[in-house]
Amino acid sequence: MTKQTTISLIAAMSENRAIGLNNALPWEPIAADWDNLKKVTKGKKMIMGRKSYDNPHRIWSEVGNYVITRQADYVADEGFEVVSSLEEAFEKCKSDDEVFVLGGEEIFRLSIPYADKIYLTLVHETFEGDAFFPEFDESEFTITERKEFSAGQNTPYDISILTYVRK
Ligand SMILES: NC(=O)c1ccc[n+]([C@@H]2O[C@H](COP(=O)([O-])OP(=O)(O)OC[C@H]3O[C@@H](n4cnc5c(N)ncnc54)[C@H](OP(=O)(O)O)[C@@H]3O)[C@@H](O)[C@H]2O)c1
Repeated sequence: MTKQTTISLIAAMSENRAIGLNNALPWEPIAADWDNLKKVTKGKKMIMGRKSYDNPHRIWSEVGNYVITRQADYVADEGFEVVSSLEEAFEKCKSDDEVFVLGGEEIFRLSIPYADKIYLTLVHETFEGDAFFPEFDESEFTITERKEFSAGQNTPYDISILTYVRK
């Protein structure tokens, strides 16, 4: 990984930090969040944990995807490359300008120390979850952008889309 590669995390979490339930999102589809994700990740490679990959509603990039697993014999679908660590995925993206870590909880936990940017959508509701976005030290970041969407504006819930940039 060269210094030029920006490591970005992108996630959506509820007020109680839930990001997943039963290997799916805890909420109804949020078009405004999906539109934002497609826009900011366009043309960038994606890195994800095996559980997030192994999901009928998985997200992927047209330019390259890395699936992190401890299973030595794991075979992923075409368009996805299997790696054994986050660092191995970063190494493979070292000539890219930006790479996105898509989660889930385990992979976010490992990647926050490396994050240059966090694109975080706050869903202003409480949801049951079994996967959560880890607490992180927000004082290490500056919020450079905040977009607000009210329920009914392409979203069933009030949401805020924040961009955190490491100081
Ligand atoms: N709201 C959001 O923004 C968002 C985004 C993404 C995912 N999600 C949700 O998050 C949930 C999944 O999160 P999760 O934490 O359960 O799973 P995950 O982070 O997607 O994947 C976990 C898997 O990654 C592999 N792994 C973890 N640490 C590793 C390490 N140090 N070295 C090598 N491999 C490692 C292991 O795969 P093996 O077991 O194969 O070894 C582990 O089971 C789902 O509910 C999903 O819908 C939400």
